[in-house]
Amino acid sequence: MKRVGILLSGRGSNMVALVEAMHAGEIPAEPAIVVSDRPEAPGLERARSLGVAAAAVPRKDYRGRREEHDRAVAAVLDEAGVDIVCLAGYMRILTPWFVGHYEGRMLNIHPALLPSFPGLHGQRQALEHGVRIAGCTVHFVDAEVDHGPIVIQAAVPVLPGDDEETLSARILAQEHRIYPLALRWLAEGRLRIEGRRVVLEGEDPGLPGALVSPAPVS
Ligand code: GRF
Repeated sequence: MKRVGILLSGRGSNMVALVEAMHAGEIPAEPAIVVSDRPEAPGLERARSLGVAAAAVPRKDYRGRREEHDRAVAAVLDEAGVDIVCLAGYMRILTPWFVGHYEGRMLNIHPALLPSFPGLHGQRQALEHGVRIAGCTVHFVDAEVDHGPIVIQAAVPVLPGDDEETLSARILAQEHRIYPLALRWLAEGRLRIEGRRVVLEGEDPGLPGALVSPAPVS
């Protein structure tokens, strides 16, 4: 059984989706620990209420020393025996050391169809740009922000009258659907990175709708 560490800075709705999917037996993995760089993040309490250990490594204790902070976070994760790391609204730019330490076993979710609109406020960027289709992306983490090989994406329409709140809510519902699926594939050892591309090994009968990739390969 793989052990999963989840990093967050805020409310933690993606964390809840991942933990609930693991607890429901949908993913061959267990939540080991939730870690936040912000002690006041509501996600920490939500994790504890789900029976998951939660810890803060406050970024303000490490001002100007980002790698030291990353190493302290990794020490907590590794102490908890974490095999896989899921970033779930973790508002921190990671150092190359941290990215290297978890290479090939760290996922992130981003509320845009990458490579469009990386960085902050992906949903707002999409609205401002006037796109008709928005969505979310789960990808492996590499040294650049919101950039690594893409595991799965879900698309949603941008509707007339949408504002940042309504579009974000529509996207968030899809985030909660694709992140557990991506984690399941990784925990099952079925994701192979080939350059920028991710190959999913084997059929997936549970693969949701046509708006979601990758197509299963045999
Ligand atoms: C989500 O929109 C996620 O895509 C982005 O940060 C937000 C986190 O939301 N990376 P939550 O804390 O999981 O509710």
